[in-house]
Amino acid sequence: MVNSKQRSSKAVINISNLKKNYLNLREKANGSKVMAVVKADAYGHGLKIVVDALNELGKLKPEYFAVALADEGEDLRKLKVSQPILVFDTVTTDTIHKYFNYRLIPNVFTYEHLNILEDYVKNFSSKYLTRRYPVHVEVETGMNRLGIDYKEAFSFISSLSSHPKFYVDGIYTHFATADEKNNAFAKLQLKQFNQLIEKLKLSKINYGLAHAANSGAVINYADSYFDMIRPGVSLYGYYPSENTTESVKLFPVMSIETEVGTVKTIYPGDTVSYGRRFKAKHKTKIVSLPIGYADGFSRSFTNKAKAIINGKIYSQVGTVTMDRIMFDVGNEKINIGDKVILLGKQKSKEITIWDWSNTLKTIPYEVTCLISKRMSRVVKQ
Ligand SMILES: Cc1ncc(COP(=O)(O)O)c(C=O)c1O
Repeated sequence: MVNSKQRSSKAVINISNLKKNYLNLREKANGSKVMAVVKADAYGHGLKIVVDALNELGKLKPEYFAVALADEGEDLRKLKVSQPILVFDTVTTDTIHKYFNYRLIPNVFTYEHLNILEDYVKNFSSKYLTRRYPVHVEVETGMNRLGIDYKEAFSFISSLSSHPKFYVDGIYTHFATADEKNNAFAKLQLKQFNQLIEKLKLSKINYGLAHAANSGAVINYADSYFDMIRPGVSLYGYYPSENTTESVKLFPVMSIETEVGTVKTIYPGDTVSYGRRFKAKHKTKIVSLPIGYADGFSRSFTNKAKAIINGKIYSQVGTVTMDRIMFDVGNEKINIGDKVILLGKQKSKEITIWDWSNTLKTIPYEVTCLISKRMSRVVKQ
């Protein structure tokens, strides 16, 4: 394990911003419950840091958590999380024991899934399964990834609703374009999900909590909140795309900081790093920082990244290496140990997640997920 006290490179996790984002989303949801999406180590922010912070919010804490994998659900239970936990993954014979061992809610949307659950509980004595066990049913309305087609969902959910061992605690769908300017497809998905809900209501079939709203939908579609919203990336302070409105105020949770490791002078014609991709035109100072692509600072940043040192912006030069990157600081007086911001704010200067995303041709989700385990996550209150 990397000792954060020894290593100057770190991801600083601002938990007061996390709480502000969460409370702003909750307020926007206008009475709907919140399922906080904390898959992939809370989008790279650190699962324990994030759930501990959210669970400090007393009565306002999330009613549910969601993860991608049963293993992540196990991690949450080991952190003593007591709320219901939905696992988005499909159930398999290899993972089914985890659901029951750790009281995780499976996503059940085919009869094969149901068979896996039934086979597993057959071997349970009634001591373990004294009450019916909750499942959520994912409904496919246009993402074409997971879920039962909305036209077939009614009969599946009605047959599940009278199952002796299981009950439908929730139904949900997932938007493909909720963060885009053109709202036609999201509206169509919403309409199809609503049709199913109306039909279930008319037939008095209990479907538990309906939920649909990812971050884009929380921001753009007030009619998508249903009983519970299901935000991920916005909790961490990022808009899901640059096309959404900023109807919810969000504050970035992660910043990436390090310190100047070395300072040296180079002369015209000297080159920096592997492949000699930077050549000095004049005498200049090069600083190196102890962070590289093994930390999640992508090699695609080569000759493109920026850093803030002592309130000024500098350009990264030469190929990004596994453990170290270099910056051209000209004639500035910069010393070993000076603080460096690679993502975040210092004085009036800021490098945003969208600066990273645009340079790397990706989205904030991927940027934070790729910050590797080697970088310690350090809490800022
Ligand atoms: C099923 C499901 N619901 C909700 C979310 C949260 O989405 P977002 O991070 O865009 O808020 C995700 C994330 O991809 C998801 O897969």
